[in-house]
Amino acid sequence: MTGFPEKERVDSYRDHLSTVWGIAATASTDALTHRLSSTEYQDFVNWKNTIAMDNHPSTLDRFYHWLMSGSRFGSVQSSRWVEILTSGIWATVALQELNLCGPVLDIGCNAGYWNSWMSYHSQTAITGMDKREVAIHFGQKRQNELGLENTLLVADFMDAHPAHLYTAIVSLQGLTESFHHQDKRIFESVAAYLMKDGYLIMIDELPGQSLHYEKMWKQAGFHLFAAGMAGGLGIDHEWKSYLALVLKLGGTDTTKTIVDAENATEQLWQSFHLFGTDATIDWTLRNSAYWWAAHEDAVVFL
Ligand SMILES: C[S@@+](CC[C@H](N)C(=O)[O-])C[C@H]1O[C@@H](n2cnc3c(N)ncnc32)[C@H](O)[C@@H]1O
Repeated sequence: MTGFPEKERVDSYRDHLSTVWGIAATASTDALTHRLSSTEYQDFVNWKNTIAMDNHPSTLDRFYHWLMSGSRFGSVQSSRWVEILTSGIWATVALQELNLCGPVLDIGCNAGYWNSWMSYHSQTAITGMDKREVAIHFGQKRQNELGLENTLLVADFMDAHPAHLYTAIVSLQGLTESFHHQDKRIFESVAAYLMKDGYLIMIDELPGQSLHYEKMWKQAGFHLFAAGMAGGLGIDHEWKSYLALVLKLGGTDTTKTIVDAENATEQLWQSFHLFGTDATIDWTLRNSAYWWAAHEDAVVFL
């Protein structure tokens, strides 16, 4: 069990998301309609509908291209701020608790929202990777303007041959597409980037049976090390929750299973829910990052 980072740090990440990347808490779709023309907003809705029916990588590529060009980027991204904020804070706490020194790789980093803040915060350069060229080019340019030394690589982690090995990999919803495509090699591919005894810090939705993923990561030599739950109120006050896991490559296997992780995080979510439904707190603060800042546990070691 662990305590939690101070509120200033959550505020600092929230400010960074807003000022550097245009990702902010929005009360409704107003921010989108405010910053997008009505035609662009309609295009966005059309894209969402298209992707709901066809999430093939080439369709997503075209969507990302549309999303990252022009001034619409920040506006559209603002609808994802809760998952971006709470996942980024959780990964930061988990990394801090693991107390590692060594290189970190951020898989599926998009423009590098988290790694850009993390390197401000920790004064260390992080390598980011994403298969979408347009996101990496946009992010690298922005990070260079900020004087950051992170290197962002265009690569598909499933195909790439790592030039370096990393002590830790962070993936914030970066494996989702691969899960949806039911690729069996996901965890083997991630493991190829890790040093012996390295860690994968991942926050994602595991579609379907989570036991299926447990089998996959065990086959790749990982075991469950820690868990948590990130989320809160999103756009239009919808609840969003994400399972956060730390998997360790190699070392001693444990008897803890995904079911133990889910039970532990379910308890966390229940106590968070009291905070999350407290109408006296501004809704934009009713997320797990601010709950942790009120000294609740963020990471459960299994
Ligand atoms: C939902 S976004 C998450 C972005 C960022 N990590 C965040 O927290 O906001 C998922 C990202 O993963 C990237 N991605 C998906 N599959 C990938 C793959 N096989 N290799 C590299 N990047 C991938 C996508 O291009 C996208 O930018």
